[in-house]
Amino acid sequence: MNGGVDMVTLDVPVPAASLEYPVRVGAGVLETLGAEARRLAPRGRKVALVSDDNVMPLYGASARTSLEHEGFDVFTHTIRPGEPSKTPAQLLALLSSMVEAGLGRQDLLVALGGGVVGDLAGFAAAVFMRGIAFVQCPTTLLAQIDASIGGKVAIDLPQGKNLVGAFHFPGSVIIDPQVLRSLPDEELGCGLAEMLKHGLLFSPRHTQALLDAADAIYAREADVLTSLVSTSVGLKAACVARDPMERSSDGRVLLNLGHTVGHALEAVAGFELRHGQAVGLGLRAAARISDRTRTSAGHLEVLITGALERLRLPSDLDAWLEGTPGPELERALSHDKKREANTMSYIALVDVGRPVVLPMTADDILRLLR
Ligand SMILES: NC(=O)c1ccc[n+]([C@@H]2O[C@H](COP(=O)([O-])OP(=O)(O)OC[C@H]3O[C@@H](n4cnc5c(N)ncnc54)[C@H](O)[C@@H]3O)[C@@H](O)[C@H]2O)c1
Repeated sequence: MNGGVDMVTLDVPVPAASLEYPVRVGAGVLETLGAEARRLAPRGRKVALVSDDNVMPLYGASARTSLEHEGFDVFTHTIRPGEPSKTPAQLLALLSSMVEAGLGRQDLLVALGGGVVGDLAGFAAAVFMRGIAFVQCPTTLLAQIDASIGGKVAIDLPQGKNLVGAFHFPGSVIIDPQVLRSLPDEELGCGLAEMLKHGLLFSPRHTQALLDAADAIYAREADVLTSLVSTSVGLKAACVARDPMERSSDGRVLLNLGHTVGHALEAVAGFELRHGQAVGLGLRAAARISDRTRTSAGHLEVLITGALERLRLPSDLDAWLEGTPGPELERALSHDKKREANTMSYIALVDVGRPVVLPMTADDILRLLR
């Protein structure tokens, strides 16, 4: 009897599968895609190779050759580049083309592109026939060190970004730094902001290595990129492993460092700031708040401003704060007027490598920044 209700309770066991997956990083590693796909789909016949209009012409042919070499019948699906492609309509178009191509549960999807392709195609893999295996082949620095790691896949709704999604871990991630040669500097910079974030959160050593290597990174030196990308992936993966489904109050949430103010600036700046550039300014904001609340010893803003300059990222936070009306920024900070009085988990730093969670309202944040 429970609350006066007669009931029978059965505990249904669900054996937990290991969701571990390899991440392979190295110049030329894209050539191993076919062998990796065969390992993941030993009985598979078809592969859906998903990319965008910029990336497919550059790397689609070598991905296809590698897959065909392993006997896969490859069909391609190409989307328009950019965030507007992460829509329900694009998801349905991709799922329909997978049905029409005769893809089955034993088959595989390959996401070849930046975070937009990875998120959309990964979500299609999560829901197609209740989930099929997929490989992430990230081609932007941001996707290599961030979006392809951790199993989050999603699309946007008119009401906001990433509102429909899943945790669907890839079978494998293949990261070839050589593809970054064709990536515009501005996009590379966006990835560097996230890389700096990993260093600031978890590793003074990675932070220093990144700053020392700034020129080599922009020169696309493959061995330097391989080393820094693998370290950054390792730092993010370790954080995800502690809290895979984002349920802890001091796990994956730490990865939001720089994102609270970053997202708000991105929202009010429209197309003037790329996401990574806004995150860079958000990192400076986190440093200022850490200094002004005496969470840190007062040294972080100077340090992080210097880091942003070294990495060729925008650093003039005050110009953006002054150029934005307070209420607009406050609204963007709290996403929704109704939540303005609510506290949020703001990620600050005691020092490089020592993050803390501070409960704060949008109003607190603005007051401390101005
Ligand atoms: N799932 C996650 O955990 C996670 C984490 C961070 C970001 N994201 C998502 O990632 C997306 C942003 O990803 P992004 O910054 O990679 O953007 P993107 O996918 O739009 O790529 C940026 C641009 O670079 C081009 N491009 C990609 N690779 C190239 C290459 N090698 N050479 C030349 N051009 C190339 C693309 O065509 C595009 O025009 C957002 O939708 C964001 O929500 C997801």
